[in-house]
Amino acid sequence: MPYFQWTGSLVIGIKTIDDQHKQLVEMLNNLNDTMEQSGQCPAPELVDRLKTYAAEHFHVEEGYMQAFAYPEFEAHKKEHEAFCDVVLSLGNSCADGSAHPAELLEFLKSWLTNHILDVDMKMGRFLEDHL
Ligand code: FEO
Repeated sequence: MPYFQWTGSLVIGIKTIDDQHKQLVEMLNNLNDTMEQSGQCPAPELVDRLKTYAAEHFHVEEGYMQAFAYPEFEAHKKEHEAFCDVVLSLGNSCADGSAHPAELLEFLKSWLTNHILDVDMKMGRFLEDHL
C-alpha cells in the first residue's frame, strides 16, 4: 500500500485539477519511497521537482479563482503559500541536517489531504457552477 493512497473522496470534479492532485500524491509517495529505501533525505532534485510542480498547480487553481472572481481567493492563496514554505523547509532541512524530513513529509501529506478535502473541494463546487 502506498504511503499516500489516492481515493475517490479526493476528487473535486475539475479534471485538470484532479490530475494535478494525483501527480502531487505520486510525488509525495516517491519522496517517501526514497527516504525509506535510503534512510536519508530525498535527493534535492526530487524536492525541487515537488516545489516546481506544486507552484504550477497552485498557479492553475489561482488562475481559475481569479477568472471567476472566487470570493475566497486570498485565503486560498495563503494556504498555497504555507505549503510552499514547508516544501522549502524540507529542502533546507535536508541540506543542513537540521530537521526531521520524515516529519515534514508527514506534514505535507496531511496538509494536502486536508486542503483538498476542504478548501479545494469548496473551490471545485464554486467552479462547477461557473464553468
Ligand atoms: Fe489543489 Fe488549492 O491546491
